[in-house]
Amino acid sequence: MKPIQVGLLGIGTVGSGTFHVLQRNQQEIQGRAGRGIEITMVADLDVERAMRIVGPDVQVVNDARAVIANPEIDIVVELIGGYGIAKALVLEAIAAGKHVVTANKALLAVHGTEIFAAASAKGVMVAFEAAVAGGIPIIKALREGLTANRIQWIAGIINGTTNFILSEMRDKGLDFDVALKEAQALGYAEADPTFDIEGVDAAHKITLMSAIAFGIPVQFDKAYVEGITKLGAADIKYAEQLGYRIKLLGIAKRRLPDATHRADGIELRVHPTLVPAKRLIANVEGAMNAVMAHGDAVGTTLYYGKGAGSEPTASAVIADLVDITRLHTADAAQRVPPLAFQPGAMRNTPVLPMGEVFTSYYLRLRVADEAGVLARVTGLLAEAGINIDAVLQREADEVSGEAATQTDVIILTHDCMEAKMDEALARMQALPTVLQPITRIRKEELA
Ligand code: NDP
Ligand code: HSE
Repeated sequence: MKPIQVGLLGIGTVGSGTFHVLQRNQQEIQGRAGRGIEITMVADLDVERAMRIVGPDVQVVNDARAVIANPEIDIVVELIGGYGIAKALVLEAIAAGKHVVTANKALLAVHGTEIFAAASAKGVMVAFEAAVAGGIPIIKALREGLTANRIQWIAGIINGTTNFILSEMRDKGLDFDVALKEAQALGYAEADPTFDIEGVDAAHKITLMSAIAFGIPVQFDKAYVEGITKLGAADIKYAEQLGYRIKLLGIAKRRLPDATHRADGIELRVHPTLVPAKRLIANVEGAMNAVMAHGDAVGTTLYYGKGAGSEPTASAVIADLVDITRLHTADAAQRVPPLAFQPGAMRNTPVLPMGEVFTSYYLRLRVADEAGVLARVTGLLAEAGINIDAVLQREADEVSGEAATQTDVIILTHDCMEAKMDEALARMQALPTVLQPITRIRKEELA
């Protein structure tokens, strides 16, 4: 049988990996797909560099639309990135009746509803395993492997760049900027690295996973997003002393109505999080990713692997190519829906505002070292109905080297509603003995 023909849009880090792995493992991949898979046409702005990568047997053009217009091309792989030209090209490829593979989480998290609807109307597939957690087959795991479960929560280290930065800062004492430059040189970071360090990339990914896990539409605009740029070295150190590690987590949680919560809803959030050091996920270092998913039947599961980089991401792109090769002749109704649920079974469970999120907290207060300070602070927490789990008071000069008139008080709380914590924080901050802005980091036990 004639090999399935693939057109590649963008041959940078992931595109070149895809080309090389497909060539190197051609025979095995064909054996699994039941048919050869060949990249026969590539579009890239830098035609000369692209030609050096693919050699003389592949047609290289600088106009991506020429790939889409080629009637020989069965599958278009979009590896350009971003929301701009990539969106237009993906929609044009769908309109031309091509199946699409993309690693572009930004595009799908923001415009997924429109893109999946267009693909469904045209009867083509849009596959995106590489868009979440690089080489880890987490989309397949959530969509197919856990299909029997009512998924209750997902929590993941899903941005390699920030995990790499946090690891380098903690282990090697590197400065934030130096660690970021290293991550960029290694090809982990997005074209705009603020997407990584401000948590936006992780929010794109958890948004996609939340849709698959809970059968809700992709709603990036509803996600709470906080990155790692405001994290201080002192908090990383105190967390360690308390038996926790700080990780940038993407969290999606189903909340059922009970005595405390009036309605059901979905928590969708990305922020630095204290995780017990004894959890496996707390020990995921460097650019590695890990995703925990908890289902009612299976319990807690953990998926680990390389979340970024040329060939790990190519591994996921090619898995999608194989899936499409196997399924493209099947009736569209027999295919696995891109977001796991059949379109008619999607729900409109609301994504909760941050004030309604239920979690525990690490607080660090820089206070005047005076009698009664701790009692006033803990009193305000008690008035807000917030239960304290642990309190740690450091000697003033132990961390900051300042004169012993000030000290750091660290408080760990039990779970409470974020709005209650906001209220208590505002009242604590107003105390004259609280000398600096209070640091608040959320904490998850992931038990
Ligand atoms: P790169 O920047 O390395 O590659 C993008 C390529 O697209 C470049 O060669 C660029 O050319 C080319 N390009 C830009 N505009 C056009 C255009 N209009 N027509 C044709 N080619 C174009 O990005 P990555 O490979 O790192 O990322 C690709 C996608 O994969 C992104 O969506 C990213 O988020 C995602 N991803 C990346 C991972 C990684 O580890 N890098 C992991 C998982 C997902 P030029 O350089 O000349 O501008
Ligand atoms: N910039 C992303 C990361 C690439 O660092 O995880 C993988 O999606």
